[in-house]
Amino acid sequence: MRAITVREYGGSEVLRVDEMPAPAPGEGEIVVRQQASSVNPLDWHTMRGTPYIVRVGRGLRRPTKPVLGSDISGVVEAIGPGVEGWSVGDPVLGFGIAAWADRVVVKAEGVVARPSGLDPVDAGGVGIAGITALQALTRAGVERGQRILVNGASGGVGTFAVQIGKLLGAHVTATTSARNLALVARIGADDVIDCTVDDVVRGVPRFDAVIDLVGDRGIGELRRVLTPEGALVRCGDPGGLWLKPLAAMAGAVITDRLVKHRIIPLLATRDQADLQRLADWLGTTALRVVVDRVLPLADVAEAVAHVESRRARGKVLLAVEQ
Ligand SMILES: NC(=O)c1ccc[n+]([C@@H]2O[C@H](COP(=O)([O-])OP(=O)(O)OC[C@H]3O[C@@H](n4cnc5c(N)ncnc54)[C@H](OP(=O)(O)O)[C@@H]3O)[C@@H](O)[C@H]2O)c1
Repeated sequence: MRAITVREYGGSEVLRVDEMPAPAPGEGEIVVRQQASSVNPLDWHTMRGTPYIVRVGRGLRRPTKPVLGSDISGVVEAIGPGVEGWSVGDPVLGFGIAAWADRVVVKAEGVVARPSGLDPVDAGGVGIAGITALQALTRAGVERGQRILVNGASGGVGTFAVQIGKLLGAHVTATTSARNLALVARIGADDVIDCTVDDVVRGVPRFDAVIDLVGDRGIGELRRVLTPEGALVRCGDPGGLWLKPLAAMAGAVITDRLVKHRIIPLLATRDQADLQRLADWLGTTALRVVVDRVLPLADVAEAVAHVESRRARGKVLLAVEQ
């Protein structure tokens, strides 16, 4: 089968279209014939092996798991022992590892049924971004009538977070640069802040939750706009290769113990119930995938470079032709 691999860490020039042996499902696993995937910042961090903590899991000198990609949209092709509830031919969406390939092996609970009305290519953009947005909002305890801030609202996670915030009944303020103001208003943001003109941390404490998808502001700065019981969810990349990411994580954990605000360093996790919740909303079109562009899997280097520029508007999708 065809797969996108990296044999050494580096920029998008290290991405290769390779022939690999077709995978077989183990206990509790299924094989999905891929129709689409997408690019998440996680993928280019894995490609570069940065921040260096990434290499602890992926190989210190070179990648030990060469196939990249996380998001899954496709059709069940084979079923391993001990799997119940799936049949060959079922359309599914979700996320796993080694997903930039014709075929991907995934734990049966890593996917849910793809709603019939959802385009298979759009479904390739749901996995990590959708789950991250949903878990950020639920971990913050966002409820009907609350006021929330989505900082960095026009990217893959942000476009889901704005829509899901509205579905949860919150009043959503979104930050983005001028070129994306209309986009975030169109997907439901009640108020939009142009981050190139207005400082997001100015003004009175007014948000019950801040979902930070940018990472360039300190915890203390973002807490200024939180109500006394508010929650700050840290998702954005603070930058740095060594200490900064670890310090950001430790800073959130320590601050959470010292202040009344809840400070939540989010690491999104695979959860079938959360995926199902997303699929239910997507099935009724209450939630939509905001698509920046669709590229064929073979053009993955171009797709990765665009996401790495941090200027993506919604999701950059990869269509997998069989
Ligand atoms: N912890 C986790 O589990 C987890 C999971 C997924 C993602 N993440 C992290 O969450 C962040 C967002 O992910 P993503 O997939 O949404 O990334 P993305 O699609 O690459 O985000 C791109 C968007 O960010 C916006 N942006 C950049 N700088 C901004 C600023 N200063 N203020 C407001 N908006 C800004 C850009 O808008 P403009 O062009 O208008 O500036 C662009 O639309 C990333 O740092 C990613 O690593 C964490």
